[in-house]
Amino acid sequence: MTTPPRRTAMTDAAQRHVPVLLERCLDLLGPALEGDDAPVAPVLVDCTLGMGGHTEGALARFENLTVVGIDRDPEAIALASERLARFGDRFRAVNTTYDHVDDVARQASPYGDGTVDAVLMDLGVSSLQLDDAERGFSYARTAPLDMRMDQSQGRTAQEILDTADEREIARILRTYGEERFAPRIARTIVRRREDGEPVTTTQDLVDVVRASVPAAARRTGGNPAKRTFQALRIAVNAELEALEAAVPRALNSVRVGGRLVVESYQSLEDRIVKQAMVAGATTNAPADLPFVPEDAAPYLELVTHGAERADDDEQARNPRSAPVRLRAATRLRPASDAPAPEPGTGTGGARRERPRPAPSRRSGTRSDARDHARSRGRRSR
Ligand SMILES: C[S@@+](CC[C@H](N)C(=O)[O-])C[C@H]1O[C@@H](n2cnc3c(N)ncnc32)[C@H](O)[C@@H]1O
Repeated sequence: MTTPPRRTAMTDAAQRHVPVLLERCLDLLGPALEGDDAPVAPVLVDCTLGMGGHTEGALARFENLTVVGIDRDPEAIALASERLARFGDRFRAVNTTYDHVDDVARQASPYGDGTVDAVLMDLGVSSLQLDDAERGFSYARTAPLDMRMDQSQGRTAQEILDTADEREIARILRTYGEERFAPRIARTIVRRREDGEPVTTTQDLVDVVRASVPAAARRTGGNPAKRTFQALRIAVNAELEALEAAVPRALNSVRVGGRLVVESYQSLEDRIVKQAMVAGATTNAPADLPFVPEDAAPYLELVTHGAERADDDEQARNPRSAPVRLRAATRLRPASDAPAPEPGTGTGGARRERPRPAPSRRSGTRSDARDHARSRGRRSR
């Protein structure tokens, strides 16, 4: 009997997830990581390391780049770390959630002010997570209802379905899944529980959704369980809360001239990213002032016009790219002067230490100065 050749983690990771809009993301990061105005040894924080596809592309394209990759999933950290081992100390992984991006940036900062050159976020789940039936993310395979990205902690989807009341389940499905039939689905789930036949597998949940949705609605829009699975996954992993905290912290972690690039896969995520970026690119000076005072000037410049999409070719090659919305922004003023506000605080970083002003080495490049000059007098972009 012959033993099949052992697949390496490198090929495993590369085959398990195809990075979305890879070249475009690298193009958008480029001005912060290379060129006349870029630093000699730039630093990128990849908030969603996954299988390391975007990080590998960045390390290969930008010669002196160091990447610190964050992921909450220990399995992703292990596979990506093996895949990227050939880059030596140009790559480091941190197993945490991305709302700690500011702490990670502070430790990696080459400038002594807590900032780095760029931050990348490629949100959602990886194909590794979706394809691993045991993790319960997929409505196409029978599995226990887990759905945690980090299986060492937190509530599973099963625990939510076993303990939340009908109103709470309906709220989760409506808010995070934009599910029209949320009350009906929640009622069926709770009734099954009361009858001593609780939903216990992904297949059970698919059946409950099908039984709760009117026949006409079942005929359009793909698998009717898709929105319920998305909603539970977002609730289990508190994804939107993490993102709401992470986006301003990421914006406050890039130097002047540095960039934040974000790929979202559903409208709730994209709304959070868009609102934070547009707010930073808009002056808060009263409209009747004849000029925009320096301290009211926008602190961001939007690099993408609206959200960019994957073209038909990429969607055909990689169906996961179909829903992507890509946005990018450049920081124009230091976070110490113009912090992006964190939710619930009204001010940027109010409950955390603010980055100190950047030392002269990188506190402003020539193009930053040009961008900054252009931004003065401009009300919004
Ligand atoms: C779409 S995948 C990233 C794929 C990666 N760009 C690549 O090319 O291989 C998203 C990753 O983000 C991770 N993730 C999701 N939410 C997170 C959070 N709040 N904190 C840290 N990692 C998170 C997931 O575990 C997953 O591995």
